[in-house]
Amino acid sequence: MQYSAKPLKISRLKRPLTGEIDLPADKSITHRAIMLASCAKGKSEIRNWLDSHDTRATLEILISIGTEATIEDKKLIIQGKNMQFQEPKDILDAKNSGTSARLIAGILSTQNFFSVMTGDESLRKRPMDRVIEPLRQMGAQIDARGGGRSLPMAIRGGRLKGIEFENKRASAQVKSSIILAGLGAEGNIRVFEPILSRDHTERMLGFLGLKIKTAQEREGYYVELEGGQIVPGFDIVCPADPSSAAFLASAAALIEGSNLRLRRVLLNKTRIGFFEKLSQMGAKVAFENVREEFGDIVGDIRVEYSGRLKAVEVKPEEVPRMIDEIVMLAVLMAVAKGSSAVRGAKELRVKESDRIKAIVKNLRAMGADIEELEDGFEIEGVESLKGAYIETFSDHRVAMAFSIAGLIADGETYIDNPDCVGVSFRDFYEKIGQIAGFEIP
Ligand code: S3P
Repeated sequence: MQYSAKPLKISRLKRPLTGEIDLPADKSITHRAIMLASCAKGKSEIRNWLDSHDTRATLEILISIGTEATIEDKKLIIQGKNMQFQEPKDILDAKNSGTSARLIAGILSTQNFFSVMTGDESLRKRPMDRVIEPLRQMGAQIDARGGGRSLPMAIRGGRLKGIEFENKRASAQVKSSIILAGLGAEGNIRVFEPILSRDHTERMLGFLGLKIKTAQEREGYYVELEGGQIVPGFDIVCPADPSSAAFLASAAALIEGSNLRLRRVLLNKTRIGFFEKLSQMGAKVAFENVREEFGDIVGDIRVEYSGRLKAVEVKPEEVPRMIDEIVMLAVLMAVAKGSSAVRGAKELRVKESDRIKAIVKNLRAMGADIEELEDGFEIEGVESLKGAYIETFSDHRVAMAFSIAGLIADGETYIDNPDCVGVSFRDFYEKIGQIAGFEIP
């Protein structure tokens, strides 16, 4: 991804973060809402959608295959194609978005036409075989670079058959890709996963009245969908993204005197592992007004500063519930009292960047005591961090987590590519300025 590479200077924040704030909508929910609305029979309205680089990639791909969409204010109106898409005239570009590439591959697999999908430099390094294999088993013809492993991939879809698939890792992208392919399949699809990954796709489809079953089985979970069902048009108001909330919550937990309320955040249990850890570390974290909306769980999060944080460990089975928040968690661990560790998080090496490498390199530059593991890291907490030049690897979550680190570090911190935050949180710096009472240029 190429963004303007002008570094951003961040200095220590000397005042507390207080008040209430609305955050951008959830990325996973917005992707799914756009995709399901495109597959639906009828019109859908997606209110408070996340308008970011990643979700725009999803929208543009779906428009390239015939979806009609209009944007009015913060509302996205989509005329669904009832699974009758058109062959794209050109290569589809998922840009930096793994969710776009992997989930839309499921939709394209149901279509009796030829399409090619690519992505930016980062996405072209990320594994695609995890979706290509099950989609091939369902009957799609797919070829891809590197012996079927990487983008670009070429898909010729058609009438698919059902599948029983044992997902070796807890990956919501793999599960959701198969479920979307199931919308155009004959026969049932059944996906088993060892640990429940984010289950927004199955919740949304259940909410829309489709026959979909989820249950705990053996040591894990499965989801079962009757193939070929029609998705009706729908209206949804997307909740705020807990992964974006994690950055602001961390700032509040680190800066003395802070007390912040984050409004109407998605609180699905597969997404709140980070907040549970933050609470175990000693910060005051409360979920308030918890309720069900559009088939998922939402509520407010209150975070209050309560002294220096304590060290904490993350076990392999806990990783899926906080996978996108681990860069932020590592920063918290770096200044927490005692020895912290994250294990069983090898997936971090194939995210928007190699996040284990990014964490270790940047935290070391800031004076932290950290050891790299193949599947995680060990940290001995220090009293304070020092400002440093941060290499984001154009990864939005690295940029945001280390910007928060910059707010508590001695001296100045430089973020090498601040614009990459737009992948999930375009106005990240404005929001921090808003609650801190100043403007970050
Ligand atoms: C996502 C699933 C997760 C997550 C990603 C979004 C989704 O990836 O890290 O940011 O929306 O399904 P995996 O399914 O690869 O774990």
